[in-house]
Amino acid sequence: MNNIDLEKTLFDEIKKLLENLSLKELRNINLGLTKRYKERVHNKFLSDSQRLAYITSRMPSTFKALLKALQEMVKIAPEIKIQTVLDLGSGPGTSVWSLFSIFEDILKINLIEKDAKLVEYAKVLTKNLPFENKLHFEINDLLKIKNYDSDLVILSYVANELKDYALDKIVNNWFKSESSKVILFIEPGTKYGFKSINYVRDRLIDKGASMIAPCPNELKCPMKKNDWCHFYVRVKRTKQHQYIKNATLAYEDEKFSYVIASKDPVRKPNSRVLRYPKTSKTEVNLVLCKEGQIKQESIYIKDRKNFKIAKKLDWGDSFI
Ligand SMILES: C[S@@+](CC[C@H](N)C(=O)[O-])C[C@H]1O[C@@H](n2cnc3c(N)ncnc32)[C@H](O)[C@@H]1O
Repeated sequence: MNNIDLEKTLFDEIKKLLENLSLKELRNINLGLTKRYKERVHNKFLSDSQRLAYITSRMPSTFKALLKALQEMVKIAPEIKIQTVLDLGSGPGTSVWSLFSIFEDILKINLIEKDAKLVEYAKVLTKNLPFENKLHFEINDLLKIKNYDSDLVILSYVANELKDYALDKIVNNWFKSESSKVILFIEPGTKYGFKSINYVRDRLIDKGASMIAPCPNELKCPMKKNDWCHFYVRVKRTKQHQYIKNATLAYEDEKFSYVIASKDPVRKPNSRVLRYPKTSKTEVNLVLCKEGQIKQESIYIKDRKNFKIAKKLDWGDSFI
């Protein structure tokens, strides 16, 4: 764990970027971006204001969602050592903040991004960090990258923008790399975000990968056609964030879908909690992904040991 409060530092750095800018203009642009995001139109960023609106409104949530996914990885597979990372489609460098919040001894992060202006912003945001010299930015099409020799490969909120053939290529490249251990995909917790996640999950399993999280096995995903597997993380909103998003609450719950896979076998929990648990004094009702099915299970007070564990569970946690 790092000594710096990276969440606060990130918020402060974003605030500095916005000095002298019209928040009203950013708010209007953000409304357009949100519409685009909901309608799944992934055009390039057309202006600096669009980039800044994206950084202000999406980067804090993306940072927290990725952090949560990485924390799950460490919980399930603490033995996996992460020192080198390849981030494909790195945008404003969001992964840097999540990664250094967890892994102290990262030696190198290669960040590949096609939008040169976003890379500039990523550099500005990270320039005061003590590990800035471990970051290697490359302006490039991620599909041109052949060398995946990094412990961890990340695609954060990118898969949705790529065609299936491109996702196949990424999975194949990862398998070809002898030294890469883990791959992580994360997307918005929407029907479409999950579609990409489930697609890559199938490709990874076809090739023999082991699931780290959230899946407790490599069986066929039991999610029903019109449902999607997703989790949440609570994100504080700064005043600017609140204003730009036209929001009243001082926090938001970011919904995300993800998959993390390893080339080596992983010892997994039996199940994953798929909804908020319903807890009373005598029982905890859970919806679980377990043994290739979605199961409703109740843990009663008489089962003392498991009741004690179940009472503390939240949506997204793993369970026995
Ligand atoms: C929604 S943003 C996510 C950025 C960042 N990964 C994050 O989590 O904040 C998607 C990014 O992927 C980049 N991207 C999409 N296709 C790409 C490609 N073929 N090569 C490089 N970057 C790409 C876009 O330019 C954009 O910056």
